[in-house]
Amino acid sequence: AGYEHHMLKEIHEQPVSLRNAMGGRLDLRSGRVTLGGLSRLGRELASFRRVLITGCGTAWHSGLIGEYLFEELARVPTEVEYASELRYRNPIVEGGTLAIVISQSGETADTLAALREVRMKGATVFGVVNMVGSTIARETDAGVYLHAGPEIGVASTKAFTAQVAVLAMIATDMGRRRHLSPERTQEILEALETIPEKVGQALQVESQVQALAGRLVDRDNWLYLGRGVNYPVALEGALKLKEVSYIHAEGMPAAEMKHGPIALIDEGMPVVVVAPRDSTYDKVLANIEEVRGRGGRVIAVATAADPDLERLADEVISVPATLPILSPLLTTVPLQLLAYHAAVLRGQNVDKPRNLAKSVTVE
Ligand code: AGP
Repeated sequence: AGYEHHMLKEIHEQPVSLRNAMGGRLDLRSGRVTLGGLSRLGRELASFRRVLITGCGTAWHSGLIGEYLFEELARVPTEVEYASELRYRNPIVEGGTLAIVISQSGETADTLAALREVRMKGATVFGVVNMVGSTIARETDAGVYLHAGPEIGVASTKAFTAQVAVLAMIATDMGRRRHLSPERTQEILEALETIPEKVGQALQVESQVQALAGRLVDRDNWLYLGRGVNYPVALEGALKLKEVSYIHAEGMPAAEMKHGPIALIDEGMPVVVVAPRDSTYDKVLANIEEVRGRGGRVIAVATAADPDLERLADEVISVPATLPILSPLLTTVPLQLLAYHAAVLRGQNVDKPRNLAKSVTVE
């Protein structure tokens, strides 16, 4: 399709892959989510007492966003576990547990082993998988395919946003079968409907991000900060930068910086702050001031023009606004582009980074 790398093509495919992930599954007329893959078990969504989400790497990051989605929309206790940890810690799986197993490839060894462990202990297992007919897909009780199309770049991009969209739909379906009002459900469905177009708008920051990468690509240590549902976006942004450009980066909850990592900040250190206009926005502004006070270079991902942010941040990258709980679908996009362009500027093999495989089928 004329792109220099699969990764860039897949980043730009996201308006289409998200449309495909949600296609035929959002029924705005009836105000319902219709997920064929759950049909046999859809009614059970009303009665699960706990949700356990598991995956590796980027799939674990989308799972962390899932925790916010399920607890806010379905009001069900949710926890997220690294699959590589879950498989070995003899987990406690009580009755009424829904395990959601996330995997783009559907072949990740740790994730498959974790699936078998919790299923053996009685959990009902739903898969959120991209590759149709993959081992993980075949071993679940039910599931929802991403329909994101083949993801060739080792660094996962369109699969990540498709996973978040699918988790949002499952959480909304579960919520509607419990306490979520028809009005709030309709609001979420309508917001999801607009996401593909808004992601297309978010992609328009590419030239700004490319120029930014050019100014900062020589910096060897970066921090990524976020709060709430955008804390996992900070983790994902840092992982993207690490795995394709080999620049060291660390993501964390913005408030955690003062508990140690702020000692890292020296003159000119790039600090990416995911700062959508939501309930913690003012707290994030305070974190930005902390960084600036110590000489850090703040790159803010924002969803609304704000003179305070323009004054405090060295660079403001604006993406369209949406419901706060869905903002990761948009705030992630500039961070994908930043990692890509930093890698290209460093001359790395973007689609096949050193030491990495697209699917980790071994322990
Ligand atoms: C993501 O960019 C990485 N390539 C890696 O962390 C990946 O997300 C992880 O290995 C899980 O893969 P899966 O989704 O195919 O199970």
